[in-house]
Parts: sequence; C-alpha cells; structure tokens
Amino acid sequence: MSFRVQPSPPMRPNRCQLFGPGSRPAIFEKMAASAADVVNIDLEDSVAPADKAQARANVIEAIGRVDWGQKTLSVRINALDTPWWYRDVVDLLEQAGPRLDLIMIPKVGCAADLYAVDALVTAVERATGRERPLGFEVIIESAAGITHVEEIAAATPRLQAMSLGAADFAASMGMATTGIGGTQEDYYMLREGQKYWSDPWHWAQAAIVAACRTHGVLPVDGPFGDFSDDEGFRAQARRSATLGMVGKWAIHPRQVALANEVFTPSEAAVAEAREILAAMEAAKARGEGATVYKGRLVDIASIKQAEGIVRQAEMIGI
Ligand code: COA
Ligand code: MG
Repeated sequence: MSFRVQPSPPMRPNRCQLFGPGSRPAIFEKMAASAADVVNIDLEDSVAPADKAQARANVIEAIGRVDWGQKTLSVRINALDTPWWYRDVVDLLEQAGPRLDLIMIPKVGCAADLYAVDALVTAVERATGRERPLGFEVIIESAAGITHVEEIAAATPRLQAMSLGAADFAASMGMATTGIGGTQEDYYMLREGQKYWSDPWHWAQAAIVAACRTHGVLPVDGPFGDFSDDEGFRAQARRSATLGMVGKWAIHPRQVALANEVFTPSEAAVAEAREILAAMEAAKARGEGATVYKGRLVDIASIKQAEGIVRQAEMIGI
C-alpha cells in the first residue's frame, strides 16, 4: 500500500461523448441538443484532407455561436504526424474564444507528445491571456500508446480523460479484427466442440483504467462501429463499465441513450451505496472496521466503491 492517496478524476459527468465531423456544420446544433455529456467535434479522421481548413473554420465559428449548455466541449485535433495539428491548436486558441473546454489529441504515443502540445498551448494561452487553462483528452490507439500508457496518463495536469480507440489500435497492433469494438469472430476458446468468445480489448482497457486511476484521469471506452447493433453496444459498454471505465463514445446519435443507460448508476445502486455508507458509519461508531450488509461483508474498500457511486449520482443530479 503506497502512502500516496489516489487522486480523484475531474468532477464532471462523462457517460457519453458524441462525435461529429467538423466538415458537417449542420449537425453541430443537434450535437449540442443531444443528451451526451461531452461533445467532440472532429477535425481528424472523419474530415478529408481537402476539407481540413474549412472544417477548422466551421468549428471556430460554431464554438462561440452555438449554445452548448452545460456540455463539456471538446475538439479532436489532427495527430502529431500530420501537417495540420499546430494550426488546429493555434487557430482554436486564438480565434474560438473561451468556451472550448478540451482538445482531444489522437494517436498519442508517449509523454513527450503531450509535452509538445502543452508547450504550444501554454505559449498561445500566455499570448492571448486565456484565463482558464485548456484541458486535454487523449486517445490510446497504437502499440506505442498502450506501451507508454502510464507515462502518458502522468504527462500533464491538463489531461482529463483517456479513451481507447479500437480501430486504429487494432491496425497498429496488427490484430486480425473484423469490427470496431465488441466481439471478434475468431477470438474464442474451444471446449467440447463449443465456441466461447472472449474479449480481445480487455487487457488494453484494464491497462488504461489502471493508468488513469493512478493519475486522476477519466478512463473512457471509444467507438463501437456497428451503430445498428444496440445489444452489441450495450454488451461492450457493460464490460467497460465493469472494468472501471466511466463512459463511451457515440458515433451516431442513437448510441447516446445506450451509453447513458449503461453508465448512469441505477436508483437501486445509488440507494444501496447510501445504505452501505450509513452501515459503515454505524460500524465506525461502534469502533468496528467492517460490518455485514445484506449478508455481505462490507469494509473500507466497500466505502470507496459506494462513495464513487454516490459521487457519480450527485454529478449527474439523480
Ligand atoms: N450528431 C448529431 N446528430 C447527428 C449525427 C451526429 N454525429 N449524425 C447524424 N445526425 C442526425 C442527422 O442529421 C439526422 O438528423 P434529422 O433526423 O434531423 O435529419 C439524424 O441524426 C439521423 O441521422 P442518420 O441519417 O441516421 O445518419 P447520417 O447518415 O446522417 O450520419 C454518420 C451517419 C455515421 C455519418 C454520422 O452519424 C457521423 O458522422 N458520425 C460521427 C462520425 C465521426 O465523427 N467519427 C469520428 C470518431 S470515430
Ligand atoms: Mg483513430
């Protein structure tokens, strides 16, 4: 047991991050009106090279104009191996105004990637007098990213969230996958002629959760490609939630309600968490460190879990 206290991640809801291309300004208002906690406007891979400059201009114009309400507003910039990223950062910070909360940096491979972006952002913030520091979120979607996941999670106090990007991750790893997220046809155990599928994303997700929890960053599950498959989305999201992730991307508006459903603690879970905290308070008053709640042992570790659920419920307002 380390003497260091595990830092808390940012206190904001992050159950669903809705994506939309910056080259499609007609959907910006729909994204703002959605039930997603986070809106991610994309300048990266959903925008064709010829449209990059126009998409950047669209986004800058919309950040100040559209009413984004209470949402966390994030723009995914281009990756550091492209000619576009520095202008994404400079133009957004110089021209978009203070409403922008985060930039999402894709394909991060090591802590120095974030150091470089941080240096640029810090210089532009000083020059423009921006009062609230811009936050970062990153996507782990390469072999290098997962190899250096812990140093990336620790790289800068600007970092708020980290997502697993299944498609680019699979490509970088040379994985023989057929779908973005979810079950993969050939990833199964065989027993007595029966196939039992397992989860090829499990270890990467667990590594991301561990790095994030160590450094007070929100771990998030990325896209699920087949947006006609609601049950497949739910199943993937439930596995992610079970491993400690706080939310999931939506790449189509119909996935927003599914993510919110999975990542919002149920009323029963919140009520039970409050009862566990009360039971532990009573145990403490009797000078005991553990007690029994509904036939189960509850102790100091149960308090942390229960507090986490109550904190989430308070953030979401249930
Ligand atoms: N956010 C908000 N609204 C959206 C939306 C989005 N990402 N995508 C579609 N809509 C709207 C449409 O405008 C349409 O609205 P209407 O009913 O008022 O006409 C409605 O939702 C239904 O859209 P639909 O016809 O089913 O989808 P589409 O063909 O217009 O778009 C995608 C489908 C996948 C191309 C689009 O959802 C998209 O671009 N998703 C994000 C892709 C992305 O950003 N990828 C990068 C991260 S992996
Ligand atoms: Mg990607």
